[in-house]
Amino acid sequence: MTQPIPTTLFEAAGGTATFERIIDNFYNRVQLDAILRPMYQADLSESKRTMTLFLIQYWGGPGTYSQERGHPRLRMRHAPFSIGQVERDAWMSCMTAAVQDEKLAPEIQDALLKYFEQAASFMMNR
Ligand code: HEM
Repeated sequence: MTQPIPTTLFEAAGGTATFERIIDNFYNRVQLDAILRPMYQADLSESKRTMTLFLIQYWGGPGTYSQERGHPRLRMRHAPFSIGQVERDAWMSCMTAAVQDEKLAPEIQDALLKYFEQAASFMMNR
């Protein structure tokens, strides 16, 4: 029986489980990062859940993020946090390591990291 061809990066990457693992890994690294940790709440569980839902929706999975939180408006939601080059690079190094640990197909890893590079720069607000 032939496997259905994945139509979204969400499916091609392995669905919800893959994004949950990447974001778990990312926040385990944020936990240890002296620059990023103070910017987040004490309990990271809601941050993990929100970020996972956002990426699942962005890459073509279910739209639960927007059903619960409306339009992402990411730049506006990051306005309360001072994000310069140092914070951007710290965020990117945590996310790059988390994505690379997943050992995804090169074209999927490249697509994710290219998006994060651009999005992380877009979040800079000083
Ligand atoms: C560039 C460096 C970045 C820093 C320092 C940063 C930091 C933060 C902080 C402190 C929060 C609030 C805590 C929370 O509610 O989780 C947050 C929320 C969030 N961030 Fe970032 N972030 C960065 C980049 C990004 C990027 C590139 C994305 C998307 C690809 C992203 C997606 C999100 C999402 C989805 C939320 C939750 C928004 C909501 O409340 O619905 N962030 N971020």
